[in-house]
Parts: sequence; structure tokens; C-alpha cells
Amino acid sequence: MTDVQRSLVILGAAGDLTRRLLLPGVGQLVASDRGEVLEVIGADQEDWTDEVWRERVRAAFAAGGASGERVDEVVRRARWVRADATSSADMAKTLAACHGVPALYFALPPRVAAASCAALRSVPLPAGTVLALEKPFGADYEGARELNRLLQTLLPEQQVQRVDHFLGKSTVLNLLGLRFANRIFERSWNADDVERVEITYDEALGLEDRAGYYDKAGALVDMIQSHLLQVLGLVAMEPPSSLDAEDLRGNMAQALRACRLRPGTLGRRARYTAGTIDGRPLPSYADEHGVDPARGTEMLAELELVVDNWRWASVPFVLRSGKAVGRARKDVVVQFKHVPHLPTGLTGHPRASRLVISLEPDRLELDVVLNGKHDPFELEDISFAADFHPPDLSAYGEVLHGILTGDPLLSVSGDVAEECWRIVTPALDAWRRDEVPLEEYAAGSSGPPSWGR
Ligand code: BG6
Repeated sequence: MTDVQRSLVILGAAGDLTRRLLLPGVGQLVASDRGEVLEVIGADQEDWTDEVWRERVRAAFAAGGASGERVDEVVRRARWVRADATSSADMAKTLAACHGVPALYFALPPRVAAASCAALRSVPLPAGTVLALEKPFGADYEGARELNRLLQTLLPEQQVQRVDHFLGKSTVLNLLGLRFANRIFERSWNADDVERVEITYDEALGLEDRAGYYDKAGALVDMIQSHLLQVLGLVAMEPPSSLDAEDLRGNMAQALRACRLRPGTLGRRARYTAGTIDGRPLPSYADEHGVDPARGTEMLAELELVVDNWRWASVPFVLRSGKAVGRARKDVVVQFKHVPHLPTGLTGHPRASRLVISLEPDRLELDVVLNGKHDPFELEDISFAADFHPPDLSAYGEVLHGILTGDPLLSVSGDVAEECWRIVTPALDAWRRDEVPLEEYAAGSSGPPSWGR
């Protein structure tokens, strides 16, 4: 048997995230032969045997479409450790079970993950150990700062990866090629030419039995504080000189440091009432199993932000994400300004050009204005579109590749994790004090009618 190089230890291995997203991502990575020789150790409080765990790993690999000799070998090597992730003794026992350099993946709620990191203080970590923490990183700005301080006492920043799977999405990564490998866009990528940027991730999914997590998090923390602000960082950053983790993440951090709520705004929030989506009836959010309606948790959140620097001065960046939305949009729209002057003699009411980077399906669309088919002086809106090939790896596969090779490029740096909390905190606090009305929309609609989308 080949010597194991990396041991991926999943803490919280009996949970849903492990089964649905992490293991399928690992399987794809193994099948693509891009990683190192790997063993997958599951750790959790369940009294499982190695065989029970191997069966879970086998099923999840198959669900992710992975097969072949390499995949079977990783299944055969998989092992189970019964452990309480918040106990130092159990963490020491789990690390001792590793044959390769450990990558500890905390697939745990934020407070348990923080307690688990605290438990590692008295446990010697083998050279090269990587710690990978799921979002949300901390439960608020102070929590994120505290967790960063704790992590600094355990390992150098390069060995800490704060996971945001949106950074592994192929379309999100396409932003890099689109912006920095084409002269035509970068020249107009600024407040002189751009009217407005919209980053939207609306989903048809409802609560899907996630009340335990979602009713405390809400759409603002679940989607905007993490995923959509990372996308904003890539859209707004200055061109990096290389795709070295320090260059790329440093430029994203700089853009996010300049980002704040548009003065005078505190965002909008709403939750869904009963409705139908794709023929499926959905109860009102307040009646969903496990929800405490008194919490007033939003399922749709929208913030209007600005990036206070020369390049983006006064351009609104509107970030929005909602659940149970009909005709759901998942895209980045860069809306350009109208031309300063249209020659008299050209007729029609053309829209200004816009670029739509669709995050699902993977597609790029450039809407421009051209002369009409019948009358050459009558303008028409035309769309150029290109579909991208589906990527070999899922977003989780891509970020796991970084974790298992110790490359933090596609993970969130410590300062950015804190910045993202800083940006949303004024809205979050106002929402919690009920200073912003909690509006309603019917499940399956496109949001509250007054929002006008
Ligand atoms: C997760 C959120 O991180 O991202 C979910 O917790 C959301 O609420 C999901 O549905 C969206 O990402 P994807 O890649 O599954 O579309």
C-alpha cells in the first residue's frame, strides 16, 4: 500500500455537511488524481465502526460521481475515531490516529468549532498541520476576532483555512480570467463607466429542515456576510500581480476594507409566507418545523454597499440573497452607464450595456446595443452569450484541494473574515433591534412586491 501523505480528519463526520458536500468533494478530488495520497478519518461522538464509516464514505463518493481504483483505495483506508471534538484528550487521540500530515476540518457549528480549537491549545500539532473552519467564522465581529486570536496561538496564518465554498465555484473564479485577461473590461471597470453592480443569489430552496441552524443565522449571515462579500471582493479588487495567496487575498482584503453600507441605508429584510414553488407547496416560514417566529429571522436579505476608494466612489453594490424565490437568479450584473451622447439620427430607447456573469448555470452574457435588423438607424438590444463547460470538481472539491495541499489561495484570510462581519454589523444590529421592518413575500414569488424585481 502506498504511504499516506495527508490525513483528512473530519470533525463532525456524522453530520449532514460531511455526507452531502464534503465527502462527494473528496471523492471527486481523489478520482481526478490532483491531491496527495490520502486517508479520510471520520471523528464524531457516534459509536460507529470503521465499516459503518467506510460505507458512508463509499456512498458519498458514488453520489459525487467518483469511481475507480484510487477511489476504492481511499474507501478501504478510511477509519473512524469516536471523539468529542471539544475534549483535548480526544483531539490528541484523533491526531495520534493519523498516518499522514493532518488536515483537521471542523464541520461543526461555529461555537463548537471554537471550543474545539480551544481544546487544541494543550495538544501538540504535528508539523504541517492545517486547520480548516467552515463558515460562519465566529458568530459576530467580536467572536471572529477572538477566534482569530486563538488560532494565532496554534498555527501560522498560512496553515489556517477559513472555508468559503463560493471561492471554489468555477464561475466565481472565472471573474479572474474575465477581468484580468481582457483589456476591454478592465478599462471600464470603475466609477467612470459603471452605474451599479448587483450580486444576487436567490434560491428556489426553502428551509429544507435546517431550522436548527438557519433560524439563528438568517440570510444576511448565511449568505451575504460570507459568500456574497467574497464575490464582491473579487469584483472590486485591484488587479493582483500574481495568483499567489498573499497577492490575491491581500487585494481582496484591501477592497473589503473600503466597503461599507451606503450611508443612510440599513438594508431590507423579508420572510416568506405560504406559496408554491415549482409546483411544490411551501408553508409560511413562521410555520416551518423548528422555527421560532418571534425571532423574526429573515429568509431574504438585501444590502446596498459602497466601496469607498477612487475606483468605485459612489457606485452602489447591491447584494441580495433569498430562499423560496421563484425564477431564482444567481448572478453578478455589472451595469454600465449610458453613453454620454447618442448621435442624433440614431433612434430607439436602447438599454445601457451590461455584463451578466451567471453563477448558475455557468454562463456569461454581454448585452450591448446594435443597429436594428430592418432600419439601420433604429437601435436594438442584443445579447452575446457563452455557456461554460461544467467543472470537473465541485466547489467543495476545489477548496478541499487547497486544504489538502496546504495552499490557502481559495480560503478566507483572518483579516477578511473580520472585515466581513464589520461590514454587516450595523445592519445586523438594527435588524435585531427591529428597527428595519420585516417584510413578507409569497414563497415562489420574486420577493416583496415593493422591492420591484
Ligand atoms: C451554503 C448556505 O453555505 O450555501 C446555504 O448555508 C446555501 O443556505 C448554499 O443554500 C448555496 O450554495 P450552493 O453552492 O449550494 O448553491
